[in-house]
Amino acid sequence: MSEQVTLTQFIIEQQRGLPDASGTFTLLLNNIVTACKQISHRVNRGALLGVLGSAGTENVQGEVQKKLDIITHEIIVKALNWSGHVGGMASEETDDPIKIPKKYPKGKYLVLFDPLDGSSNIDINLTVGTIFSILRCREGVDPETEDFLRRGAEQVCAGFVLYGPSTMLILTTGKGVNGFTLDQDIGEFILTHCNMRIPEETEEFAINMSNQRYWEPPVREYIEECLAGETGQRGKNFNMRWVASLVADVYRILNRGGVFLYPADLRNPDKPGKLRLMYEANPMSFIIEQAGGLSSTGREPILDIKPQSIHQRTPLIMGSKREVERIIDLHRRFDRPEV
Ligand code: F6P
Ligand code: MN
Repeated sequence: MSEQVTLTQFIIEQQRGLPDASGTFTLLLNNIVTACKQISHRVNRGALLGVLGSAGTENVQGEVQKKLDIITHEIIVKALNWSGHVGGMASEETDDPIKIPKKYPKGKYLVLFDPLDGSSNIDINLTVGTIFSILRCREGVDPETEDFLRRGAEQVCAGFVLYGPSTMLILTTGKGVNGFTLDQDIGEFILTHCNMRIPEETEEFAINMSNQRYWEPPVREYIEECLAGETGQRGKNFNMRWVASLVADVYRILNRGGVFLYPADLRNPDKPGKLRLMYEANPMSFIIEQAGGLSSTGREPILDIKPQSIHQRTPLIMGSKREVERIIDLHRRFDRPEV
């Protein structure tokens, strides 16, 4: 029989080397994974369970909620709130942080999550996912909003689960990135993608071209360079992909390189970009950088941003290192042409 490493074995072995590891983190991750297996089942059964379509409500961002946005949010809250490992949670689907019910002990981790990323794709049977970010907090206290507002660089773990042709978990605890595939027969995530690395160079970009007229000049310039192909100054042809599920676009980049841009959108100055810093950009940036890539707003590293609010939005440019460096350089030259 071939040697298969389960997620639990992998995490326990990784934690063993750490002096202050108590096993709590492994248990927390197990609870998250249990929730994601339940979500995988619901997403996979889809119309058979009657879970597709709109819920007829809006979330704090003013986006129409799908039935599955609400169901998946509730699955995660229920899987984590009793455990004693979590001090508080924040979700894309609720305005304020979620408190742990009084009857349960409060633990030393904060979990921030997007329960169903790319949910506009759910009714057309494309890949969607769950994104999560884990921070430490003071044990036993009820965290306030302020306690959540920490830089992405402080994350102790970030991951996402893809509900695609296979259900996969991509995970980092700050020691590289590993991918696990759910074996549906035995209900376990098995290590299948060891130490994922993003190629530094790429000929593939991902952006929603329909927003072109709202982009800032450096982003326009970059995309024009790519579109000019081998006859332009880059001297090579570029390909474009846009799944419109962040989880799927990031997974592609982890596998074969590429650059993802959701830049600042000049349509609405109150919304600098579309993606949310704390439960989309931060965890994805932690993963991308742990795999050798880079992540930036174009002007500052994503992981250095001091959050002002839980649902804050940010421009997001990430992926293959050399390409992101080039885009940062275009921003710098635009902001300070004299340098
Ligand atoms: O969560 C937001 C999201 O659905 C991401 O998964 C995705 O990258 C992006 O929005 C797609 O945005 P748009 O519909 O503007 O292309
Ligand atoms: Mn999302």
